[in-house]
Amino acid sequence: MAIKNIPVQPVIEQPRPRTERGTLFTITFRPLNVTVEVPEGQSILESCETYRIPLEHSCGGNCACSSCHVIIRDGLDRLSPPEDDELDQLDEAEGLTLTSRLGCQAKIYGDVEVEIPLERQAVSASANEMLKTAHQP
Ligand code: FES
Repeated sequence: MAIKNIPVQPVIEQPRPRTERGTLFTITFRPLNVTVEVPEGQSILESCETYRIPLEHSCGGNCACSSCHVIIRDGLDRLSPPEDDELDQLDEAEGLTLTSRLGCQAKIYGDVEVEIPLERQAVSASANEMLKTAHQP
C-alpha cells in the first residue's frame, strides 16, 4: 500500500476574544475543575466574585490578611508580579508554597490554573449550588 503525501496544515493560533475591558484569558480553578474567562488585568479574587467561586477574603481585598491565599499550578509568570506588601502578607499564609499568591493582589495577564486550598474555600451550606451556577457571570 502506497503512502500518500498528505499536505500538513499549519497551526494558526486564533486571536484571543476581546471585550471593552481587554483581552479575555481563562482561569481554571482546582480542585473545583471550573474554567472561566476573565478580562486582562482582573485579580483572581475579582474573578472568583464574578463567577461566585468561593474564596475567603477577610480584609475585603486590601492586602491586610492572607485569607485569599491561592496556589498557582500553572501560569505564575502570566500574573502581575507580587509587590512587597503581598510578600509580607504571604508570610502569614498557612501552607505557603513557592507558587503561592494572594488572590486579591495577583492580576491575570494570561491563562492560569489556580488551586484554592481547602481551608481557603469559603464553603457554605449552599456552596454546591453556587458551583453549579459558577459559569454564569
Ligand atoms: S483578602 Fe485579605 S489579603 Fe487578600
